[in-house]
Amino acid sequence: MKFLETIVAMVLGIALSFNIAGNMSCNAAGQYDYFKFVQESPFAFCKYGKGINRCNILPLPRIFTIHGLWPSNFTNRHEPCVGAQFSRDVMNEASNDDLRADLQLSWRSFKSRWSNMDFWEYEYNKHGKCSDHKFSQTQYFDRARSLWKQYKAHTLFSNRSLEPGKSYRLTDLEQAIQSFINSSKPLLRCKQITEQNATKQYLLEVVICFDDRAINPVNCPGRKECDPLSRVRYML
Ligand SMILES: *[C@@H]1O[C@H](CO)[C@@H](O)[C@H](O)[C@H]1NC(C)=O
Ligand SMILES: *[C@@H]1O[C@H](CO)[C@@H](O)[C@H](O)[C@H]1NC(C)=O
Ligand SMILES: *[C@@H]1O[C@H](CO)[C@@H](O)[C@H](O)[C@H]1NC(C)=O
Ligand SMILES: *[C@@H]1O[C@H](CO)[C@@H](O)[C@H](O)[C@H]1NC(C)=O
Ligand SMILES: *[C@@H]1O[C@H](CO)[C@@H](O)[C@H](O)[C@H]1NC(C)=O
Repeated sequence: MKFLETIVAMVLGIALSFNIAGNMSCNAAGQYDYFKFVQESPFAFCKYGKGINRCNILPLPRIFTIHGLWPSNFTNRHEPCVGAQFSRDVMNEASNDDLRADLQLSWRSFKSRWSNMDFWEYEYNKHGKCSDHKFSQTQYFDRARSLWKQYKAHTLFSNRSLEPGKSYRLTDLEQAIQSFINSSKPLLRCKQITEQNATKQYLLEVVICFDDRAINPVNCPGRKECDPLSRVRYML
């Protein structure tokens, strides 16, 4: 009897400490819990339902590019953060020449009204500055560059023999990514496009989640944003 009580108390204690630890990790250490590293297919981003290309860059690069690196909360709410605004002067410093050159390829704007610098500024002010108690602006963009180099979705897919121009089951795409991120759960986003009365889904974004230092992959919270029952067109 005593033994059983001890076990029950232990289990409760563990459950309780997990719960507290879980909630402590939310924001006790800062303004966010984890990072979402979001890559997009320029093709799918630019393709409108009626085949109108809303992007002005042609030909589109046949790679996944960075959409953003988003400090995120487990509550999944994105709330305004305290933090310094993006500085173009810092980004333009000579010591950032290599970083800028890399980002011109990996973190590109496809909207006609936005330069790459405009895009970086928008993303930083909306998301990046939420982590500025942990990363300087330069460190933040440097992390994004490193993550892209290590986890470019097109390279991960082709390593698993998944090539652009074909359709795949959602689980095959997910598992390919998962096999590179310690079996953590990625989040795939699709865009539904109706052409000639038929709706097809295109792979739009690949989200990989990382710990609050943007180093180790973690499970992405949230539900699938693609229809698991129909095939996913992977186009670049
Ligand atoms: C944190 O606390 C809230 C209630 O304030 C609870 O709903 C939630 O499940 C807790 N989260 C974790 C990870 O324990
Ligand atoms: C996370 O939540 C905290 C507290 O609600 C908020 O202050 C902070 O801005 C949020 N961070 C993000 C990235 O949404
Ligand atoms: C796939 O990735 C592994 C480990 O990262 C690497 O050793 C291998 O050469 C890659 N294979 C192909 C075909 O890209
Ligand atoms: C992979 O996951 C295991 C189990 O969750 C963990 O112990 C290990 O540290 C992780 N490795 C990396 C490289 O993230
Ligand atoms: C699409 O459906 C409409 C109404 O059912 C039909 O009139 C039209 O011919 C169809 N278009 C194509 C390209 O199949």
